[in-house]
Amino acid sequence: MRSLIDILDLSVEEIDALIVTACDIIANPDKYAECCKRKKLATLFFEPSTRTRLSFEAAMLELGGSVIGFSSANSSSAAKGESVADTAKVISCYADIIAMRHPKEGAALVAAQNAEIPVINAGDGGHCHPTQTLADLLTVYREKGRFSNLTVGLCGDLKFGRTVHSLINAMSRYDNVKFVLISPEELKLPSYVKNAALKGKGIEYVQTTDLEAAMPGLDILYMTRIQQERFADIDEYLRLKDSYILTPEKLASAKPDMCILHPLPRVNEISVKVDADPRACYFKQVLNGKFMRMALILKLLEEAKR
Ligand code: NCD
Repeated sequence: MRSLIDILDLSVEEIDALIVTACDIIANPDKYAECCKRKKLATLFFEPSTRTRLSFEAAMLELGGSVIGFSSANSSSAAKGESVADTAKVISCYADIIAMRHPKEGAALVAAQNAEIPVINAGDGGHCHPTQTLADLLTVYREKGRFSNLTVGLCGDLKFGRTVHSLINAMSRYDNVKFVLISPEELKLPSYVKNAALKGKGIEYVQTTDLEAAMPGLDILYMTRIQQERFADIDEYLRLKDSYILTPEKLASAKPDMCILHPLPRVNEISVKVDADPRACYFKQVLNGKFMRMALILKLLEEAKR
């Protein structure tokens, strides 16, 4: 059974095909309105979510399917001690596909190993978040028209930020992509991501704490939230939470066509004054996420038939 646990489960060619489907959905939504008739998506969210859960639900509804699920661990049998493996087996009796978010790294993989239906990882702890990356990639494609020859700056919590890990893995497969990793010392990219995605492949990257110095060289700036819920020590969070705040003044030295992305939710790291800047693409990114999730649901349900 084909699932999506890590962005690297999809080849570059498959990502291209998902982008083609998403663009066709954007151009011809009516063509897809009944594609998932009588199919059910189960959204199993053991961790808070606004965009990811609701965009999965909107995606399935726009494909003509329906949705069941829960939006917090407290309202599921996890609160009674049920394992992820058992939950996955049970939901396989009710639904055709699962989108699952869980605070533990590896939980989506366990679900996929036990489910009889495709499982989509909608975020597993501080590990990865492949469908956010699909949203990010469609946005880069629509804004820049390419994935190669780009300098990508990632700024904020690179340690716990699962969207960052998945995006670096995905973008490191294209030609001549350079990375600028901008974070406080304490929140640097974990070495397991750095070694596999960058060092191991000889990809050019720099690590810095200085956003303003990096700004002029960037084609893409991916801002992230400091991930409060992953800190063991709240004082450390409080000390680091406002490490980077993007303002119109700081953007003065950026390229006129730089693309500003953020997976959202935003806390304080992008001033609302930046929203009016034509380079701010984070709300477009939200919409792109729905289209890519539609394309992904179609692909996985199609493959499950075989
Ligand atoms: C992200 C996540 O859950 O990792 N949110 C999202 O899905 N758009 C980013 C975050 O919570 O900071």
